[in-house]
Amino acid sequence: MSNSELNEYYELISQLIDEAGKIIESRNSERKTIEQKSSDIDLVTETDQQVEKLLIDGIKAKYPNHKFIGEEDSSSGKRAVLTDDPTWIIDPVDGTMNFVHSFPHSAISVACVVEKQAVIGIIYNPVLGQKFTARRGQGAFYNDQQIKVSGEKNLSNALLVTEFGTSREEEKTKVVLENITKLVKIAHGFRSLGSAALNIATVALGGADLYYEYGIHIWDFMAGMLIVNEAGGYCCDPAGGEVDLMSRRVICASSKELADEVKQNDSKAQMSDMNIDDCYELVMKLV
Ligand code: IPD
Ligand code: CA
Ligand code: CA
Ligand code: CA
Repeated sequence: MSNSELNEYYELISQLIDEAGKIIESRNSERKTIEQKSSDIDLVTETDQQVEKLLIDGIKAKYPNHKFIGEEDSSSGKRAVLTDDPTWIIDPVDGTMNFVHSFPHSAISVACVVEKQAVIGIIYNPVLGQKFTARRGQGAFYNDQQIKVSGEKNLSNALLVTEFGTSREEEKTKVVLENITKLVKIAHGFRSLGSAALNIATVALGGADLYYEYGIHIWDFMAGMLIVNEAGGYCCDPAGGEVDLMSRRVICASSKELADEVKQNDSKAQMSDMNIDDCYELVMKLV
């Protein structure tokens, strides 16, 4: 794709995200009406749906042939399919639980993917005015200032970020806790912001060194992955190799060395011997 086409896409999505950000910001401290999705902690609000519609309608009006993978569109249980066509991957509110509680860490996360490669990534937390952006090959930015990952290589010096996940079933939480406990014992510190996109963006900023999570979706990490890569970081599959965009798991790190150390200490390393479909089935059982 040409640079002018890339810039046109970028201008359009920036305007739409600013508009959508105003809606989130104006409602952050209000009481929300919530609906439950797969469980009583898997939530959606009217704002999630409204923001996703605003973004999709705005893009469709200019590019009627573009495709979309939006969280609130795809939550019917189908496994989303990514084609080579220009596709917008949208998480309208990443950190809905935070948004519901007015905890000021939720963000709009949007990536534009062409031929399965991310070309634009934007993560915007309108409540705290934090905007992370990247265009392929042009670096990563935080509120228009260029950013770089920390470059940390050792887990013992690293601030590690992950989440507890969205399941509260005993067997599943046991596996998550075992994994976290093992890594927390080695890492310098441990954090959870409650938004995968902001967790990843913080790695790009150099404010944390590594993020990993099992059970997340393409809309949680696609924009963040481009931003980390453009900030000089390294993203991979926890089982090794390139990230499979539909496999629902990712490591975003400040260096390959750090990602490798986490992989070695990950108690779900059993996955490394599996093919991607078996892996997917396993992750689905864990989340
Ligand atoms: C969730 C958040 C959370 C992560 C979950 C995601 P949502 O996204 O990013 O931090 O642990 O895996 O599903 O549902 O708030 O958009
Ligand atoms: Ca959700
Ligand atoms: Ca999300
Ligand atoms: Ca969401």
